[in-house]
This record gives sequence, structure tokens and C-alpha cells, in this order.
Amino acid sequence: MARSSSHLPVNVGIIMDGNGRWAKRRLMPRSYGHDAGMKRIIKLVDYVRTTGVKYLTLYALSTENLSRPEDELNGLYSLFRKYFEEYAPKLMDDDVAISVIGDISVLPEDVAMKMREVCARSGKNAPFNLIFAVNYGSRAEIVRAANFASRLGGNVTEENFSRFLYTYGVPDPDLIIRTGGEVRLSNFLLWQAAYAELYFTDTLFPDFDEREFNKALKEFSRRNRRFGKV
Ligand code: FPP
Repeated sequence: MARSSSHLPVNVGIIMDGNGRWAKRRLMPRSYGHDAGMKRIIKLVDYVRTTGVKYLTLYALSTENLSRPEDELNGLYSLFRKYFEEYAPKLMDDDVAISVIGDISVLPEDVAMKMREVCARSGKNAPFNLIFAVNYGSRAEIVRAANFASRLGGNVTEENFSRFLYTYGVPDPDLIIRTGGEVRLSNFLLWQAAYAELYFTDTLFPDFDEREFNKALKEFSRRNRRFGKV
């Protein structure tokens, strides 16, 4: 889908990295960092909605993260449960649409059900759209789309191929932020990020507050987006 050429991104993706290190610095278990990460999400969503950004896509769990120790995964599932039970419904009463991309069938059944329920109740194209990538991997998404396209037969074009991606109907991200100091995309929205501006910060996700988000917006507004043109 068309990307924004204005100074404000329409869709911002965030690779939320650094929860574990944030906890370690406080001599606390990793679960403490994820808990702080969830609190950060809650505050950040409230703020991002006020900026005029219309879509926020959060990388909550990659397919690779599924190989983490069971107790860490169980902690994350508890946070998903809590978020989708307690916080998501409140947001939805308030002109926010929530959706999930990725294969959630491998999550504990009650968590997956809660997510499906919220997504089903949630409209599409609300004034603000919050998208969680959960057990998401971009390569798997592309392979899945390729299989759908091959079953359909005929000529594959960028346009019809992108209909089979999880993100169909969502504008491509204009800006992708990664917290936590690593400088890579880690299998996040590879197709969709073709023209995204990338912003990397050492700030660990639990510390990524309004000020940090504004810094990223400011940097975005300074970039000269040519989409391959001169
Ligand atoms: C990466 O940090 C973060 C994750 C794997 C999980 C992200 C989850 C949250 C922010 C909280 C829960 C989410 C929802 C949707 C309620 P890391 O643990 O890899 O950090 P490290 O690189 O410092 O070890």
C-alpha cells in the first residue's frame, strides 16, 4: 500500500528490544523486564495516539523467541493474557482497533482465544490502529503468502501477492524503530519495510518514553524520502 510522504509517519513499527538487559541492570529476573515492557506499551500507546500516527505495529514475540526457556515464555503469555483481558477492551471502547499478526495457534489456547476475541470485536481502520506481531516471522509470512498465491495460479504481482500477507489493508510502515542497541530487522516486516526509514537507539525498551519516541519522529521528519526517485 502507498506510503506516507509527509513529515509524520502513518505507520510506525517498533522492535521492542532490551527488556532482559533492563532487568539485569537492576539485578532482577528477565520477567521483571518484560513486565516493565508491558507498562511501557500501555503508556506509549496512550501517547502515540495523540501524535497523529495512525498505526503502531509492535513486535511482541518473534518465531525465534519461541525457543526461549519455558518459564520466560510462560511469563510472556501471562502478560499477553493480562493485556488482552484488562487493557485491550478499554482501548477498544475508545476508537482504537487492535489486531494481531502471526501464527498464534501455538500459544496457550486461552491466550490465543482472548486475542481472537479482541480482534474479532475490534473494527478495522479506526482512528488509531494497534497491531501486535505475535509468533511472527517475516519469512514465514512471505512463504505462506507464496503458497496462497501458487494455489490461486495466474500471474503473481506485487499487488496481488501483498493481499496474502497478514498486513493486507495496512499501510506499509514508514518508520521502524528498534530499541536496545542492535542494528538489524530480525525478521520483522521485511516485505513491508522496503521503503521504511530505520531508526536505531541504544535506549532499552522499558525506558523508551514519549521523549524518545519524539526523537524518532523528529529524525523521521528530517529524512528526505525519495522512494527511489531523484
Ligand atoms: C525483547 O527483549 C522483548 C521481547 C522478546 C518481548 C516483548 C514483550 C513485551 C514488551 C511485553 C509484553 C507484551 C505485550 C504485548 C503485553 P529481550 O528480552 O530480548 O531483551 P534483551 O535483548 O535485553 O535480553
